[in-house]
Amino acid sequence: MTEQTRLVEQALAAQAQARAPYSHYPVGAAVLTGSGRIFHGCNVESGAYGTSICAERVAIFAALAAGEKELSALAVITRDGGTPCGACRQVIYEQCGEISIYIASNDGGPVQAVTTADLLPKPFTFHDH
Ligand code: THU
Repeated sequence: MTEQTRLVEQALAAQAQARAPYSHYPVGAAVLTGSGRIFHGCNVESGAYGTSICAERVAIFAALAAGEKELSALAVITRDGGTPCGACRQVIYEQCGEISIYIASNDGGPVQAVTTADLLPKPFTFHDH
């Protein structure tokens, strides 16, 4: 099984846990780490909308909180092949670096394989850090 197939399958499993009572837009994410583990993320919404969090950031933060140092690939799945939001792009850039990102949809369309630089070509960065 390829990295892409494996991660998309895991993102699909994560999507089933989405808590999206306001948008009705479930998102699943899966991140592969340098140690070979896969962490899941789903979107979790709040009635105070701004406190909601995206699936990608849940997966990335779960991996980091577990002590993973290297995040090497990410998959995300939505019903229509939606791409990561701007906030998630910045977090992917800062926490994962230049990785493969597999963007899948529940409609069975082709998976788009992109990179961090494709999604965020001119990232914000502190030049003195
Ligand atoms: N969402 C994600 O989980 N990831 C994204 O990159 C874009 C949006 C979620 C947030 C919210 O729960 C729902 O999708 C609709 O915006």
